[in-house]
Amino acid sequence: MISKRRSKIQGWGVFATRPIPKNKRIVDYAGEKIPTRESLKREARYLKTGRIWCFKLNSRAVRDASVGGNIARFINHSCAPNCYTHIVRDTIWIRAARNIRRGEELTYDYATDGESGIRCRCRPGCKTRL
Ligand SMILES: C[S@@+](CC[C@H](N)C(=O)[O-])C[C@H]1O[C@@H](n2cnc3c(N)ncnc32)[C@H](O)[C@@H]1O
Ligand SMILES: [Zn+2]
Repeated sequence: MISKRRSKIQGWGVFATRPIPKNKRIVDYAGEKIPTRESLKREARYLKTGRIWCFKLNSRAVRDASVGGNIARFINHSCAPNCYTHIVRDTIWIRAARNIRRGEELTYDYATDGESGIRCRCRPGCKTRL
């Protein structure tokens, strides 16, 4: 249903290899489950490389896709995404926000606070910081 390829947004991205219907659970964001305190330390380290791998599960825990992650860790952010995330207990589902055509790059809103300072490249002129 999906494959990893070079992206026009940044680096690697994930693309639909067949049409995906709205609301379909596409893939789960895998990664080591760690406490928030540990994730703050790791994120500071990752930011030096310019890439974020940690996804907040709840106020206490985070999934770090750089340890035990799967293809979902290559899904880029967009301010006009075609996917959304749906957390069910410890599982972070990436789901289709609308019908997605074959060949489209999958994106979701990272919902970050801009602290990384990374400029969003989802479209020319986007002013968001990830
Ligand atoms: C989970 S990785 C996504 C895969 C990444 N493209 C790669 O090649 O490893 C997250 C990182 O990708 C980059 N990224 C994702 N979406 C982006 C966007 N809309 N604009 C700029 N960089 C983006 C940032 O460096 C971000 O920290
Ligand atoms: Zn953007």
